Amino acid sequence: MCGIIAAVAKRDVADILLEGLQRLEYRGYDSAGIAIIDSEANFTRHRRLGKVQILADDVKEQNIKGGTGIAHTRWATHGVPSENNAHPHLSRQIALVHNGIIENHQALREDLIKKGYLFESETDTEVIAHLIDAEFERSGSLFDAVQTCIPKLKGSYAIVIFDITDPSRIIAARSGSPIVVGLGNGENFVASDQLALLHLTQRFMFLEEGDIAEITDKEIHVFNNLGDLVQREIQESNPEQDICEKGPFRHFMQKEIFEQPKALLNTIQGRLSETQVITPSFGTDAASIFSKIEHIQIVACGTSYNAGLTAKYWFESLSRVSCDVEIASEFRYRHFIARPNTLFLTLSQSGETADTLAALRLAKEKDFLCTMSICNVARSSLVRESDIVFLTHAGREIGVASTKAFTTQLIALLMLVTSIGKEKKHLDDKTELSIVQALHALPQHIEEALTFDKEIEKLAKNFTNKQHSLFLGRGALYPIAMEAALKLKEISYIHAEAYAAGELKHGPLALVDAQMPVVVIAPNNDLLDKLKSNIEEVRARGGELILFTDKTTAFQKDKNIKIIALPYVNELIAPIYFTVPMQLLAYHVALIKGTDVDQPRNLAKAVTVE
Ligand code: G6P
Repeated sequence: MCGIIAAVAKRDVADILLEGLQRLEYRGYDSAGIAIIDSEANFTRHRRLGKVQILADDVKEQNIKGGTGIAHTRWATHGVPSENNAHPHLSRQIALVHNGIIENHQALREDLIKKGYLFESETDTEVIAHLIDAEFERSGSLFDAVQTCIPKLKGSYAIVIFDITDPSRIIAARSGSPIVVGLGNGENFVASDQLALLHLTQRFMFLEEGDIAEITDKEIHVFNNLGDLVQREIQESNPEQDICEKGPFRHFMQKEIFEQPKALLNTIQGRLSETQVITPSFGTDAASIFSKIEHIQIVACGTSYNAGLTAKYWFESLSRVSCDVEIASEFRYRHFIARPNTLFLTLSQSGETADTLAALRLAKEKDFLCTMSICNVARSSLVRESDIVFLTHAGREIGVASTKAFTTQLIALLMLVTSIGKEKKHLDDKTELSIVQALHALPQHIEEALTFDKEIEKLAKNFTNKQHSLFLGRGALYPIAMEAALKLKEISYIHAEAYAAGELKHGPLALVDAQMPVVVIAPNNDLLDKLKSNIEEVRARGGELILFTDKTTAFQKDKNIKIIALPYVNELIAPIYFTVPMQLLAYHVALIKGTDVDQPRNLAKAVTVE
C-alpha cells in the first residue's frame, strides 16, 4: 500500500527520498510524488503516474535541490490513479503525504468547500491538507494546527506535513498506520516502513498510536494523544536481518522461495528440543494458558488465512481442540459469540493488515481467554497489541505474493498445535516425538523439493495460453490447494479456483475440458483412494491433469496426466512440503506470462486500509 519517506537535513535529499521510495515499491502503488524545499524556502513538487523510476528521471532532469522534503507512493483508494490524485497534496503553505483512509472525508470536504476551499483532487487526503491549513492560518503554529485537526479525522492515517516556507521542521502523526523516525547525525528522517530508511541509518524510533512528532535536523519531540511530551525508545536495527538484496535471484519471490529451508530452520531454532516442543517459547505463561484452552478462533487475511485453515485440521486431529478460522474483514463486522476459554489467534506476515488488527482490537473488548499472534514483523502493531506473540523468523519478505512467511506460519502453527495438545494432555509423548522429528527433518525435505525447480519450469508451459485452472486437494492439503490457486492468481493473472476434491461433482466438473488444467495435490495418505476417484472423474471428461504427488503413489503418466513425484515425507508435514512446488509453479507461469512477479498489478504487500 502507500509508502512515505521524509527528511530534514543539511544536504540535498531528493536522491535519498527517491531511493527510499524505490525501497517501498514492494508494498504496491500506482503513482509517486515528491515535494522539496531548500534553505531559502524555494519549493518544488513533482508527481508522476506509474513507476518511481519515471519520477526519479524527472527529478534528476530538473536537478532539484533542498534538504527538507516529503515523498510518497500512492495506492489508489479514493480517486483513480492519476497525477492529480498523487501525493504530496498542497493547501496554500501546507504540503502533506498520507497513508490510510479518512472515513469522514465527505463531510469534512463539504464543510471546507463552504469555507471557500477549492479541491484539485478526488482524494480524502486533500481534505487533511485544507483542514490543517485552516487551523494554521488561525493559530500560526503548524504543530498546534495538526494537534487541533487530528481529533476531527475518523479513520486510519500516517501523515507527514511541512510548511513550504519553513525548511526547519516536518511534523508526523500516526493513528492506525505505522510511522518510524530514523535518527541520523545532524539530520532526521521519517518513513512508513523502516526498510525505506535502512540506507540512511540503523537507529529508529517507532511512533505509537496517537503520537504526533515534531522533527528538526537535530531534535525529535514526540507528544502522545493526551498532548504530553513523551520519550519513545530508540532501537538499533540488525543490519544482517534487514538485508534486502536479490543476490543471484531474478526476483525477490524466487529468492524467498529458495530461502525457505533457512527460514524454517530459524523459526524452529531454540524452540524445539530433540524430542519436544518447548512450550515457554510461546511465553512464560503459555503452559498455564494453553492448559485452559477449550476452543481456538483464528482470524487472518489472504495467505495467512490459508495457513489458519490448514491449522484447523491439525488442531482438531492432533491437539483435539475445536478451531474456527475466519477472514478478518468478515469477523469484524458480524455478531460473533466468544465461546468460553477461547484463544483468539491472529496470523499475519506484516502485523499491520488493517482488518486483522481491527479484529484483534475488537476481540480485546470481548471475553476471550487470551489474544495471541503469529507474526513475522517484531515491531508491528499486531505484535505490540497481542497478549502472546510467536514470531516467525522468515526474515523480511519483499515479494507481494507471500511464500516463506506462509511456510514459517505453518511450522509455527504445528508447534503451537503440539504444545497446546501436550499442555491439555490430549497428545502423548510418542505423537509429540514424531511431530518433532518431522519438524526437524522439514528444512532438508524442502531443499529436496526445491530441486524440482527445472521440472516444474517445464510443466509451467502447460499454462501458456490458459485462462482458467482448478486446484484440488483433500484434508489439510485442501487449504494448500487454496494457497496454490491464490499464488497463481496473484502473479500470473490466470483465474484459479481451489476445490476440496470431494466437491468436484457438485459444480466445478461442469467446467472441465481440454482447456482446463486441473492441478491435484495428491500425496500418499489415508485420503489417497478417495482422491484417485476424483482424478478419474476429471480424466473421464478429458481434463488436463497435473499431479503433485510422492514417489510411493505409483500414478501412471499418460498424454493427459503430467506428474511431479517428490520423495515421500511424513504426512504431518506434507502440507508445508507440497506448498513449495506450488509456489514454483506459480512463479514459472508468471515468468512465461511476463508479469511483474514481485509487484503484481493492483496488489499491495501490506494492506493497511480496509
Ligand atoms: C496482502 C498480501 C498477501 C497477504 C495478505 C495478508 O493481500 O498481498 O500476501 O497474505 O495481505 O497479509 P498479512 O501481512 O496480514 O499476512
